[in-house]
Amino acid sequence: MSERKILVTSALPYANGPIHLGHLVEYIQTDIWVRFQKQRGNPCYFVCADDTHGTPIMLKADREGITPEQLIAKVGKEHLADFTEFGVAFDNYHSTHSEENRTFSSLIYERLRDAGHISSRTITQAFDPVKNMFLSDRFIKGECPKCGAHDQYGDSCEACGATYAPTELKNAVSTISGAKPVDKDSVHYFFNLADFTDMLRTWTSAGHLQPEVRNKLAEWLDGGLQQWDISRDAPYFGFEIPDAPGKYFYVWLDAPIGYMASFKNFCSKQNLNFDEFWAQDSSTELYHFIGKDIIYFHALFWPAMLSGAKFRTPTAIFAHGFLTVNGEKMSKSRGTFITARTYLDHLNPEYLRYYFAAKLSAGVDDIDLNFDDFSQRVNSDLVGKVVNIASRCSGFISKRFENTLSVNCSEPALFQEFINANVTIAEFYEAREFGKAMREIMALADKANQFIDEKKPWLIAKQEGNEAELHDVCSMGINLFRLLTGFLKPVIPALATEVEIFLNINPQVWPANTQALLNHKINDFKPLMTRVEADKIAAIIEASKENLEKTPDQQTQLPNIKAAIFEPIAESIQFDDFAKLDLRIAKIIKADHIDGSDKLLQLTVDIGDETRNIFAGIKSAYAPEALEGKLTLVIANLAPRKMRFGTSEGMVLAAGPGGKDIWILSPDEGAIAGMRVK
Ligand code: MSP
Ligand code: ZN
Repeated sequence: MSERKILVTSALPYANGPIHLGHLVEYIQTDIWVRFQKQRGNPCYFVCADDTHGTPIMLKADREGITPEQLIAKVGKEHLADFTEFGVAFDNYHSTHSEENRTFSSLIYERLRDAGHISSRTITQAFDPVKNMFLSDRFIKGECPKCGAHDQYGDSCEACGATYAPTELKNAVSTISGAKPVDKDSVHYFFNLADFTDMLRTWTSAGHLQPEVRNKLAEWLDGGLQQWDISRDAPYFGFEIPDAPGKYFYVWLDAPIGYMASFKNFCSKQNLNFDEFWAQDSSTELYHFIGKDIIYFHALFWPAMLSGAKFRTPTAIFAHGFLTVNGEKMSKSRGTFITARTYLDHLNPEYLRYYFAAKLSAGVDDIDLNFDDFSQRVNSDLVGKVVNIASRCSGFISKRFENTLSVNCSEPALFQEFINANVTIAEFYEAREFGKAMREIMALADKANQFIDEKKPWLIAKQEGNEAELHDVCSMGINLFRLLTGFLKPVIPALATEVEIFLNINPQVWPANTQALLNHKINDFKPLMTRVEADKIAAIIEASKENLEKTPDQQTQLPNIKAAIFEPIAESIQFDDFAKLDLRIAKIIKADHIDGSDKLLQLTVDIGDETRNIFAGIKSAYAPEALEGKLTLVIANLAPRKMRFGTSEGMVLAAGPGGKDIWILSPDEGAIAGMRVK
């Protein structure tokens, strides 16, 4: 059997905010998988870094009166401390603001450029004349051109959901200086993603992605790939583009390259062969764990960049869902926006590791942290089932048998049953079906407890002359307990280590060939884990309420994409509100550009009994040619609206946060223009 060599990454957290429990879903998921590989004896390296570039970091440093370098140094330390205390054991934690990353970013850019995949052209953008900087949509606020709501961002209105160009906002101001933005031209550099359409079609359907992710990608590919703007003008905190003074790589260009940079940094320290892992013909495995909000970058841009620059592409991208707390999006006012630090101030990190493990699967479903469920699961599984076995048996071993286990394995079949289960449990871990692995392990824990319940050592202990049986039963319990903690070790490594000390054994390898401990001296039992206390949870929520005032830097750097692809709408409406909508399936018969609008397309749609003229803000995602013949949903009874370019007679409903991420329906057998949607 040839040995596997594995390189694993988690997404690089932004250096402008603290690690929170949502992030930890990912880092804990990755860490469990890596620890499992290591415990199985596979060479496996886990690297990560802080994602340090971009405007929000620059502005935050500005506000704090420090340099971006000082800010990222401070935040990098805090992040690593949080991860370490949660048991997330990176082999290397680096920074995207590193020499390695500068070198690889330039190299990849130059290779792409030399192969003809980079182009440049002049674009017009909003500019802050006071701060002398270009403004992305998120740094412009004004009144919504549709409903007039105040204080809306430059790309969309949170009150009415309209999308528009920042130039359409009324009384627009720069959120940085308060000045009125002006239009300004500048040359930008673009990565010609469409050059990789064929490559990506093949790659995305070749088993590197989860099925639901692959389907999403197919839709994106069908919609046509746009050029990707990879440059930003000074002032920008990042790397200057080698042949373009005053232009910087957009943060998302150098961020994934940070994976390579961190590994390169690790290789230099460990004397490992970098090329063995990154050369085009590499036979090693490369896995990226990410959240579902950043799939676009990892499953389209990243493989295209790597292949264009003659590096290997990932073996697989593993996307996970988002964390909700008590069924809702994490919220500062409800006290459920919980930072890693606040949690650590009150509760044992391994509770959370176990809880996430119990809820994680290989899919992209969101996972909910429900505090009642959390306490109940930790208390009943870890404390009530697992640790309880040791506390039930160890007292007798210590009091009656001088802390030495019996010379017999009294139930060899039961012991073997536990060992045999290692195959299924390993398959679940390998496939990231951690919830299933935990259920399997807890079923074994139930068996161990049943065995003790049936034997009733507390009764045997009262009988004369049954010392040997008492010794055997309790030793058996301890041996089963040992196997359980071996299986749980990737999830609760600190507890597993304490158990190794208690049992006086070497670090446990994966229990596939483990022999029972016989005639073996153990140490005194100390309580290994206590129950979750309700007042600690209340304290976390209280502390989280005070914790964080909403500041602009807490917003993500890529709001239009990060707003999450599959996210539910928070507020509910009454049925009557819904019933007022005349929703129809419409067929797009014609789609055209509009002179003077870089957001809108003019659509002619067939809604069954008539055709309508509709202006839709979907130009960022669709070329007109790609739309003709497609189906979409239309609100047919929306009052007509006079716009600069004509009257819009309805509204097209599209899914997605904006930018390139907007989806309308694809033609589907059975759906016919004019059908009413109920
Ligand atoms: N800096 C980028 C990633 C660059 S990777 C080359 C980024 N950073 S982030 O700090 O916003 O998020 C880091 C990771 O945490 C992402 O994979 C993201 O999906 C994940 N999560 C952030 N919030 C999350 C939840 N609430 N729930 C689950 N995962 C979440 O994106
Ligand atoms: Zn509005």
